[in-house]
Amino acid sequence: MKKYKIAAIPGDGIGKEVVPAGQQALEAVAAAVGGYQFEFEVFGWGGDWYRQHGQMMPADGLQALKGADAILFGSAGDPDIPDHITLWGLRLKICQGFDQYANVRPTRILPGIDGPLKRCRAQDLDWVIVRENSEGEYAGVGGRAHQGHPIEVATDVSVMTRVGVERIIRYAFRLAQSRPRRQLTVVTKSNAQRHAMVMWDEVAQEVARDFPDVHWDKELVDAMTARMVNRPATIDTVVATNLHADILSDLAAALAGSLGIAPTGNIDPERRYPSMFEPIHGSAFDIMGKGLANPVGTFWSCVMLLDHLGEQASAQRLMRAIERVTQDTSLHTRDLGGTATTAAVTAALCRFVAEA
Ligand code: IPM
Ligand code: MG
Repeated sequence: MKKYKIAAIPGDGIGKEVVPAGQQALEAVAAAVGGYQFEFEVFGWGGDWYRQHGQMMPADGLQALKGADAILFGSAGDPDIPDHITLWGLRLKICQGFDQYANVRPTRILPGIDGPLKRCRAQDLDWVIVRENSEGEYAGVGGRAHQGHPIEVATDVSVMTRVGVERIIRYAFRLAQSRPRRQLTVVTKSNAQRHAMVMWDEVAQEVARDFPDVHWDKELVDAMTARMVNRPATIDTVVATNLHADILSDLAAALAGSLGIAPTGNIDPERRYPSMFEPIHGSAFDIMGKGLANPVGTFWSCVMLLDHLGEQASAQRLMRAIERVTQDTSLHTRDLGGTATTAAVTAALCRFVAEA
């Protein structure tokens, strides 16, 4: 029987609660569909590992992940460790080490979820945001000098390469082409950022020629926030830089009803390395260890993982079960205004997967 090796990295905070829930969901779907199995290897990296070893993951950690078919990630973040250390020491180390340059963030208003927009019907909001995930504002280039002195200087340099821009825009056009509306919005800020963002626009123009069947338009990032709120139905697939898409995807998740639902895939489209799937919510210390975390973001991330593995029937089955969960308000967790626990939601989901 086909066996998929999944590296599970719960990480910190509620990651430790939602990743095991995701594993259960994947087991349930494999049992229901049949023909393949999952083999999980769990890595206890993150804040606790840092306290013991002085780093978020072992120096040769990427080597241990390399043979996996996919990675299921929880979150990185710890109240006692600076955020830039937890982020760069684990999640970005994997994203950048494995050149997972396409970060894909679908957003929909799922059945039973009451979004905050008055005039937005569920069918008006069906977006995928493609985030450049390897460079730009997160390139890590910059420095500090004269720390603590009045002449202190600090820079974070956004780095855009033609190769990096072209590959993400091409990926986004291809994704847009695969969706029914074949529509792409390229988000930019080339009015103010007159070098890299101008190149970004030029590359979009060039790549667009290879996709004559995709309607595309360009939107400045600030105007995009207003368009997402006021005219959600005019949007389908979106591509944006690392930081722009980081911000837009939080807005998207909020407009769809909760950050607890939103999934993401950090994809290496060339499949040289394993891709990594994770809920976009963080480690949420305020509720950790209480069994209150919403596992739906992780379940949806598992749908993306299954899709990536080529198990489309399983992906669809899991998505149908997720929609049954969200439809039932007694299965809503606290972020959705309900009182359901992570365990109750997970048990119901596994039941729906078996029935579907
Ligand atoms: C995300 C998160 C991260 C990011 C944080 C945790 C640094 O907000 O995945 O969107 O900004 O990339
Ligand atoms: Mg974010």
